[in-house]
Amino acid sequence: MIYVKSEEEIGLLREPCAIVRDTLAFVGARVRPGVTTAELDACAEEYIRSRGAVPSCLGYSGYPASICASVNEEIVHGIPGGRVLREGDIVSIDLCAYKNGFHGDGARTFAVGQIDAEKQKLIRVTEECFWKGIEGLRAGTPLYDIGAAVQKHAEENGFSVVREFVGHGIGREMHEDPSVPNFGKRGTGVRLKAGTVLCVEPMIVAGARALRVLDDGWTAVTLDKKPAAHYENTLVVREDGVEILTL
Ligand code: MF3
Ligand code: CO
Repeated sequence: MIYVKSEEEIGLLREPCAIVRDTLAFVGARVRPGVTTAELDACAEEYIRSRGAVPSCLGYSGYPASICASVNEEIVHGIPGGRVLREGDIVSIDLCAYKNGFHGDGARTFAVGQIDAEKQKLIRVTEECFWKGIEGLRAGTPLYDIGAAVQKHAEENGFSVVREFVGHGIGREMHEDPSVPNFGKRGTGVRLKAGTVLCVEPMIVAGARALRVLDDGWTAVTLDKKPAAHYENTLVVREDGVEILTL
């Protein structure tokens, strides 16, 4: 069931979402050759806690860290560890913060030093997919219009959209209804109501969309080892558009 939020609840959501935004910037400023993903995780956790919030991912279904750090062919849910980032890598940072009884959720993909043209285009197109996905989104929009627009833009650029992972509603729980796929048919799905809070999160791969999950039980990687990117914001559907809470 989609739980539509009151203005009071949306007011409470603003702070965890602002903390997500600021943590992503804080971590992004520390992405450089030589840093490990565990170091990025530690600085994210410290920063989130310094703002009086809790990293929602830590302990979620047994997840062992505060952020997901997915490098190159890793699509999502990369577990931070001793891996050293190297010039030419890309790393997606996905994190959630819990405060005031609500979760915020966001993701960005960062370049490590200089990256090749394909990775540059992938990062750009993935962010563009987010903006295409929410173009025209407002109360009354059919849910799958979002994914249809994301898929169209990704595929027009020669990229693929993963099917196994999707966006979602968010609020008092990190994952609420509805699921928000990054693919679908325009004009279908439930008509979204004002006050619905969604995480729109294109996960785009440069090659084929086939993936597998590593033996760690979390890290999703492309089978063809081509790079992947991720861009996510938490937003409120309004009568006349959207209000993005993590920008
Ligand atoms: N932002 C991710 C999501 O929407 C958070 C994953 S946290 C994890 O699913 F604990 F599941 F890894
Ligand atoms: Co999410």
